[in-house]
Amino acid sequence: MSETITITDNRTNESVEIPILNKSVTSRDWTKLLPGIWFYDPGLATTAVTQSSIAEINGNEGMLRYRGYPIEQLGDKCSYPEVAYLLLFGELPDADQLSVWRAELADRSVIDETYLSNLMNAFPQNAHPMAMLASSVAALSMLYPESRDVENPENRMIQTARLIAKMPTLAAAIHRRRTGQAYIPPNVDIPFVPNFLHMMFQEEGKDYECHPVIAKAMDVLFTLHADHGQNCSTTAARVVGSSHADPYSAVTAACSALYGPRHGGANEAVLKMLAEIESLENVDAFMQSVKSGDRRLMGFGHRIYKNYDPRARIIKQMFEEVFTVTKANPLLDIARKLEETALGDDYFVSRKLYPNVDFYSGLIYEAIGFPVAMFTVLFAIPRTSGWLAHWNEMHSNNERIARPCQVYIGSPQRDLP
Ligand code: CMC
Repeated sequence: MSETITITDNRTNESVEIPILNKSVTSRDWTKLLPGIWFYDPGLATTAVTQSSIAEINGNEGMLRYRGYPIEQLGDKCSYPEVAYLLLFGELPDADQLSVWRAELADRSVIDETYLSNLMNAFPQNAHPMAMLASSVAALSMLYPESRDVENPENRMIQTARLIAKMPTLAAAIHRRRTGQAYIPPNVDIPFVPNFLHMMFQEEGKDYECHPVIAKAMDVLFTLHADHGQNCSTTAARVVGSSHADPYSAVTAACSALYGPRHGGANEAVLKMLAEIESLENVDAFMQSVKSGDRRLMGFGHRIYKNYDPRARIIKQMFEEVFTVTKANPLLDIARKLEETALGDDYFVSRKLYPNVDFYSGLIYEAIGFPVAMFTVLFAIPRTSGWLAHWNEMHSNNERIARPCQVYIGSPQRDLP
């Protein structure tokens, strides 16, 4: 059997035979036969914009791997810094590499206190944390103008480590600004996740004890969120990065894309939805409003997964352990009832809508003590390693500037009166 596709232009009877390589056909061969005829693909749903070796997703099987390793094994056995290293460098670090990497992240987590407090004070206290985060990342571009040398791989790696390391510092400063608490600088002697929790939750005059169960849960959540192929925010980072803008500008674009409720903002939207449903008796009426098209069941559905999102399955298994050290989240029962109802209802079954990563994550974040408005920031911290892994990969492959086409459907030429 020939691994090719033949396309015939019935207007001219000319044909082109295109080889199928890596489950794809190149558009270049198509344009040789049909110049000026575009693939009309709203939402880029059937277009592969690149070749990548970072994350592999099989949406029908509900499978996710980073660099070949199943997400379940990474969540179980690795810390987030190890996973970030894997995404960036292609292999897990050995013990020496890990200790150098951890030290580099710790060193680079520090942000000049005056700069940071001036920046935070410029934001309204009740601003949304994601708007503050996107602006803060953009502001880093002013501190590191040398980051514009994006064709230099060594420089790219310096900026990459810097940005991954500074995201928790920015996130905690944002939280403290919003809650009117004094900023706490990073403690370079404690690991990445406990250090973030310390900067977030340390109260004045008190010691913050990070419970190992909470630290492990956050590590797993960070690992689950670290990458997901060509999602909306990664694509935003790539599009901006393809113009050779600096990485802070590319990640600012990614933060802005993540903010929206159809992408990373869904975790916040889920909690608001659960709070609005309020009790189990209201679940049926709510589901009716979803089925009649009035609203969406947030945390459900995915462009790629037409089966259970493996990340949601892992999070669902974490509740019991986390709730032994936090208060149980009473909204969990409503979430479970929504899932049970959806999985038995033809509307959701026929559209293959299952819980995604955002459906259950917020229930754990809330139990740990994060304000709901911070949830998407918690997604952005680890996703920064994925964004930058793709950004580096794009530059290593010397990819072309992103410049899609459109099908013009407006007025033909007309003349002014
Ligand atoms: N609730 C109700 N109906 C839905 C939902 C939902 N959450 N998601 C999709 N549908 C329906 C949609 O109305 C459409 O029905 P019909 O064929 O009758 O018009 C059908 O399912 C296909 O939906 P779509 O909008 O064409 O699917 P998409 O691939 O363009 O959108 C999505 C994917 C994630 C934006 C969408 O499922 C959604 O809005 N979900 C809720 C928001 C959410 O949870 N987002 C987080 C995604 S996972 C984290 C991340 O990576 O961002």
